[in-house]
Amino acid sequence: MKIELGLDDYLLSKQQRSPVVWDSEAIVNAHLLIMGKTGMGKTTFLRRAINQLLAADSGLRLHILDVHGDITIEHASSVQFSESTEYGLNPFAVSPDRHFGGVRKRIQDFIATLNGCRPIGSRQEAVMRHLITDLYAANGFFADNYKSWLLQDGYTRKYPKRYPTMDDACRFACIKLKQLIIGSDTPSGRALEGLNKVTSKLYRISKQLSASGSEHNPTLMEQALTYRSEAKKYYLEYIENLETGKELDDFIKYESKDVLKSVVERFENLKACGIFKNQAPPFDPLNRAWHYNITALREDEKRLFVEFRLQELFASALEKGPVEKGQCLLRELIIIDEAHLFFRDDQHNILNTLAKEGRKFGIGLVCASQAPTHFSDDFFANVATKIVLGVDQMYWDTLGRKMKLDIKLLNYIRPFEVVGTQMNMKGDTRSSFTLVRVAHRN
Ligand SMILES: Nc1ncnc2c1ncn2[C@@H]1O[C@H](COP(=O)(O)OP(=O)(O)OP(=O)(O)O)[C@@H](O)[C@H]1O
Ligand SMILES: [Mg+2]
Repeated sequence: MKIELGLDDYLLSKQQRSPVVWDSEAIVNAHLLIMGKTGMGKTTFLRRAINQLLAADSGLRLHILDVHGDITIEHASSVQFSESTEYGLNPFAVSPDRHFGGVRKRIQDFIATLNGCRPIGSRQEAVMRHLITDLYAANGFFADNYKSWLLQDGYTRKYPKRYPTMDDACRFACIKLKQLIIGSDTPSGRALEGLNKVTSKLYRISKQLSASGSEHNPTLMEQALTYRSEAKKYYLEYIENLETGKELDDFIKYESKDVLKSVVERFENLKACGIFKNQAPPFDPLNRAWHYNITALREDEKRLFVEFRLQELFASALEKGPVEKGQCLLRELIIIDEAHLFFRDDQHNILNTLAKEGRKFGIGLVCASQAPTHFSDDFFANVATKIVLGVDQMYWDTLGRKMKLDIKLLNYIRPFEVVGTQMNMKGDTRSSFTLVRVAHRN
């Protein structure tokens, strides 16, 4: 796949017309970084590049994540996402890949993504992890059995196996909450609650004692003994009032009504935002350009949407397997404008995963934003092509350092006329900075 960027400006001054071309087969990876302060033409650049890619005959699928609704592409298959649309994403679809996929990884990514948008407390996080693990198990997906991660796992069932959805998660969490409320109102539940309180006190004391030594703390020792006998009393009470035998499991996992309630609320909020729906978005499978119009989503929803969608795309790329020699190296290109909204310096951030692993699975990531600090370190370090459309002078030093370039060169960049490019070609250890006279004007 090729994008004609323009003509080599230096050679042009010597009367030589030498086109500068981005060629996905010649470059180390198909990731592209576009940087330019507001109004410098980032969106216009993306639109033009997309049109060039679509004009060529290929099987490349473009995913255009449009935050402002201004990457309009003729004939693209466009889907709008909002609270009132009936389709959306399912964050609980599991990749069956034995190494990269699985239940545990999915839960980890799910929680990390939520945390990246609005942090969850550590107790809520633990409860959420248990809840989703149990939800998966109830649907036939088990963290420690990779064969169960497949939808077609060889077992016959009354109903076909399917991934749990956000609706299921809400329902499941509510049931658990009800059970916990009812359970803790029974004599065994109350005894367990008492036992839990006393043992945490006991734990705190024993930590203090092991730090200072029991002989120096007779009062603490005495307190510990009192708590011990209290714990024994509660335990006995619990055993004597046991009904189902499952009381302790749920009590340990779901901790307290308050924590579980806050998790239920978080799930309900997630369900209410316009992202997670049971029905998949109606993109045209024959159209090469899929345009995701996410203008109507709130900023935190946009972030969740993009991260979860990219996770889905990566999971399905894993299922297809790595690109083989002799095949087209690029299968899917993901285009993200205003990319600063989505980058996090976090190993679980899917943009960083794609920056590092996407190439092997035929995925290219194209990200546009205003300043060098808007991109994650992983992306900056891995991206093979950087295009500088004009950056605010306050960032020149940072940019010079990050791109290992003499910042005097940035003086030659002129809005809409001359842009800077740096491409890391296969077989080259260094990538030089080339000034390019852009081919067309608006
Ligand atoms: N190569 C070009 N030649 C002439 N005009 C251009 C060129 N590229 C962009 N423009 C014009 O500049 C204006 C800003 O372009 P664009 O919206 O692409 O910038 P942007 O970097 O995406 O800005 P923002 O950060 O605000 O989103 C538009 O009116 C566009 O038509
Ligand atoms: Mg723009």
